[in-house]
Amino acid sequence: MTAAFPVPPELAGHPFFQYRNNVLYAEDVPLDHLAEKLGTPLYVYSRAALKAAWETYRSAIGQRPVQVCYGMKANSNLAVLKEFARLGAGFDIVSGGELKRALAVGADPARIVFSGVGKQAWEMRAALAAGVMGFNVESEAELQRLSDVAQDMGLRARVSLRVNPDVDAQTHPYISTGLKENKFGIPIGAALDAYRSARLLPGLEITGLDCHIGSQLTDISPYFDALEKLLDLVDDLDGIGIRLSHLDLGGGLGIRYRDEVQPSPKALLDHVFQRLQARGQGHLQLVLEPGRSLVGNAGVLLTTVQYLKHGEARNFAIVDAAMNDLLRPALYDAWHGLRPLRPRAGDTLEYDVVGPVCESADWLARQRALALEQGDVLALESAGAYGMTMAGNYNTRPRAAEVMVDGGHYHVVRQRETLDDLLRGESTLP
Ligand code: LLP
Repeated sequence: MTAAFPVPPELAGHPFFQYRNNVLYAEDVPLDHLAEKLGTPLYVYSRAALKAAWETYRSAIGQRPVQVCYGMKANSNLAVLKEFARLGAGFDIVSGGELKRALAVGADPARIVFSGVGKQAWEMRAALAAGVMGFNVESEAELQRLSDVAQDMGLRARVSLRVNPDVDAQTHPYISTGLKENKFGIPIGAALDAYRSARLLPGLEITGLDCHIGSQLTDISPYFDALEKLLDLVDDLDGIGIRLSHLDLGGGLGIRYRDEVQPSPKALLDHVFQRLQARGQGHLQLVLEPGRSLVGNAGVLLTTVQYLKHGEARNFAIVDAAMNDLLRPALYDAWHGLRPLRPRAGDTLEYDVVGPVCESADWLARQRALALEQGDVLALESAGAYGMTMAGNYNTRPRAAEVMVDGGHYHVVRQRETLDDLLRGESTLP
């Protein structure tokens, strides 16, 4: 099929969601068909897009020793996880819940890393019982707890220390994690001592070094600044007889939401391996924990216009998705592309696209030129990452359904929540 009109250049970054004859498709499935059949709000993912994103990592890696552990907090739908497990991914988890998801899709525990600043004892136990590759530990208190838990189970936990290298990832402050004012990691200056303590704990086996400096990085130079600091520490550790087997650089590669240039995994890896060689640390295996860059542009959120409201200062399109479905605009002032499934000819107006939730922060897109009528369905783009995983039930709104498109087919991979689901577990007093 041919496009009825030229594809807007911004769409070039989203090749799996394209117009054909003036209808937006996901792969070979017209999205208006899905909206009609399954209702909105609806998350739609493209299997081919997931595979293509994985391929950018796989081809960048080539024969180099890199373990990709998908940062599943970006999108933890079982169908998405299964796809990555089939492709050979490991997983970066941050909770006992995420561990359960990974195991549910048959993930290889030997490729699971357990990150996060607040692991509880039961989560450590579950991960040790599963036999995970290791724990990224963020404080001395956590080292102690992990050692106790492991010892109690007659095991030794493999650990990396997550250090905070104090570099500025130059991204939104809420998703910047490598500065000393952030809660994450052990300050790099205190790391050597923390390794010394870890070495004395009987339930631990030191295996690596970890950092994660932030998310949605569109400039990769902050990784390089962090890397040099990490390699200095690796040298110091060698000096005290602690020899590591891997280096984990976390996630964080950005994607194109609007006009950003998406940094390539290859550019990152080429530099990292060149530096590892140059500094005599070529034996280190590399671990990466990408989330957003594997799923962000593999999903859209469909929503239907309920009302048009023409106010004195603004025109509002009130839609059936809200901040409880896609929190990123409200929380980070994030910009998501917005496309009508069937663009209308005619004059456009500037709209704020807002949800029904009783908060002024409940907006999804602002000041967009659109030709709209009530009942039109819109696609919010780049919603594959941190969309559904951050969804909630504010205003007693059921969470959306999720669908995976595969060529000309689709699969409902999560049912829409029902109102009964929402009331389950609650009770009144006798
Ligand atoms: N590893 C660790 C330890 C992390 O904390 C994160 C993300 C990742 C990996 C994956 O990072 P990614 O490749 O996706 O950038 N909700 C925010 C993003 C929060 C990221 C939290 N940590 C957003 O919607 O922009």
